[in-house]
Amino acid sequence: MSRHTSLLREMGLAPLWRLRASANPAEHAEAPVVGQPAESPPAPAQPAAPDLRPAVTAARPRPAAVSAAAAPAAPVQAVPDVSGLGWEALERQIRDCRACVLCERRTQAVPGVGDREADWLIVGEGPGAEEDQRGEPFVGQAGKLLDAMLAAIGLKRGQNVYIANAVKCRPPGNRTPEADEMATCQPYLERQIALIQPRIIVALGRPAAQTLLGGEVKIAAARGRLFDRNGIPVVVTYHPAYLLRNPQDKAKAWEDLCFARASIV
Ligand code: URA
Repeated sequence: MSRHTSLLREMGLAPLWRLRASANPAEHAEAPVVGQPAESPPAPAQPAAPDLRPAVTAARPRPAAVSAAAAPAAPVQAVPDVSGLGWEALERQIRDCRACVLCERRTQAVPGVGDREADWLIVGEGPGAEEDQRGEPFVGQAGKLLDAMLAAIGLKRGQNVYIANAVKCRPPGNRTPEADEMATCQPYLERQIALIQPRIIVALGRPAAQTLLGGEVKIAAARGRLFDRNGIPVVVTYHPAYLLRNPQDKAKAWEDLCFARASIV
C-alpha cells in the first residue's frame, strides 16, 4: 500500500477517495463556463456586496436577522478601509476587530493560515470551538478531514495553500454566520484574496460560496461549475463538516477538488 493510500485509510477516507472513472476532470472541462450565470432567475443584488457577482443570482434579503434582533447594544465599530493594508497590519486589524457581534464571545479572531503566495485559497465558513481556542482555521475534526482532502490531491496545509474563513470570529454555538456578519467581515477576505492572488479559490459549503459569489447558492447546483470572480476561478464543494455527517458525498468532493485542480491555468 502506498504511503498516500495508507494516509487516506488512516483518515477513514479510502477507498472513497480513489479516483473513479466518473471523477475524470476532463469530463467537467466542457460543461462549466467561467462567468456563466446560474439557472435561477435574477433577483435584486445584495447591498453588502455589489461588485463581485458575475456568476450567480443575488439572495433575497433575509427575514429579520436573528443576531441583529437578539444583539445587545452593539459594540460595533465600522471596519476601516483595509484595501491598502499589508499582511501584518491586516491581521492586526482582524484580531482587533469589533465590527460585529461575533467579537463579543470570541476567544480570539482567526485570520487565516498558510502560504501567502499560494495558488490555492480554501475558504470555509467560520471558526469553530477549537479554532477559536487555537487561533488557526480548520484544526478540529473538519480540519482533519480537510487536510486529508488536500492530501488526496497532493496538497498540504501551508504549502501552496492558504486557508481562511468567511467570518474570522466564531459564531456562538457554531451557528451559521448571519448574512450581515459575513458582509461585515468580507473586506478582510477581499484583502486576503488581493494579497494572495490565488490561481483557484475553493469555497467549502454554502456560506463560503455565498460570500464569494454573492446571492443564493445551492451547493448541489453549483458543483462542477467554474465561476469567475474578478478573473479568479472559483469552485464550490461540500464543507468537510457536512462530509463528516454525509460520508457518502466524499467522492463528490473529491471530484470537485480534481475539477479545481484541472481548472488552474
Ligand atoms: N469550519 C469552518 O468553516 N472553518 C473552520 O475554521 C473550522 C470549521
